[in-house]
Amino acid sequence: MRLRKAVFPVAGLGTRLLPATKVLAKEMLPIIDTPLIQFAVDEAVAAGCDTLVFVTNRYKHAIADYFDRSFELEHGLLKAGKNAQVDALRRILPAHVRCVFVTQREPLGLGHAVLCARPVIGDEPFAVMLPDDLLFGRAQPVLAQMVAEATRLQASALVAVERVPREDVSRYGIADVEGQDGASSRMRRVVEKPAPADAPGDLAIVGRYLFEPSIFPLLEATAAGVGGEIQLTDAIAALIQQSDVYAYRFDGVRHDCGNRAGVVQAMLDVAMQSEDTRAAVTAFCAARGVQLGKRD
Ligand code: G1P
Repeated sequence: MRLRKAVFPVAGLGTRLLPATKVLAKEMLPIIDTPLIQFAVDEAVAAGCDTLVFVTNRYKHAIADYFDRSFELEHGLLKAGKNAQVDALRRILPAHVRCVFVTQREPLGLGHAVLCARPVIGDEPFAVMLPDDLLFGRAQPVLAQMVAEATRLQASALVAVERVPREDVSRYGIADVEGQDGASSRMRRVVEKPAPADAPGDLAIVGRYLFEPSIFPLLEATAAGVGGEIQLTDAIAALIQQSDVYAYRFDGVRHDCGNRAGVVQAMLDVAMQSEDTRAAVTAFCAARGVQLGKRD
């Protein structure tokens, strides 16, 4: 699989992080000094993507501004000899990568957001990345793992999954799988946000998907589902009826940055990976009786 395009549905409201998200796009929430969206963008670029499609709305201009180049700021920093800061700005987006912004005019759901990207995707495979899910891959970034896995399996779709506690299943798309081929299993069924009693298991979809364009006609035919929204999960359920869809247990850790605890965990994880913050954070946690280690 040659992956070039990734879709970032970023039109959501982020109500779980109000009041900050009243004016701040949740994708711009800083994990220490790095906006959440940057982690997903880095992961897409590491997997070979050179076209990033943001499905956005009029409240999310900050995302476009962030990925635009700021000549005045760079110029001022250069004049002041602040080269490290200039490098940090230039690392936001490699020169060969372009951003495309598509408007989702009505909040009709994740499935609808992905469908809005169709004219830019055209007839190629593509990734969908939900930036709330901050994934740190172990040996390599998670989307790159998925491209290798989809190529190996010749899969028409591959979706990242992880086990979640039973009481949490109603927050996710839950997959029922059969057999096991390495880290992947063929999906038999998938249900969006089931009640714990109706869930077909505890294998939850996390926010990384690889699709062929064959998902688009199915999305078009998908009626409103859970919450009155057009659900990506329902289109995946239809895809399962016509081709092989795999659930992939990624190698890494996930932080759900759509909620408060997940943001704190992500920050601690990042702080422990960085030379300049590790000692101070370790000392602070030790003083509170908590022992923190580095990610493996
Ligand atoms: C979305 C998907 C859901 C998936 C989840 C992962 O839900 O609809 O299937 O499990 O992302 O984060 P949301 O979190 O947008 O409600």
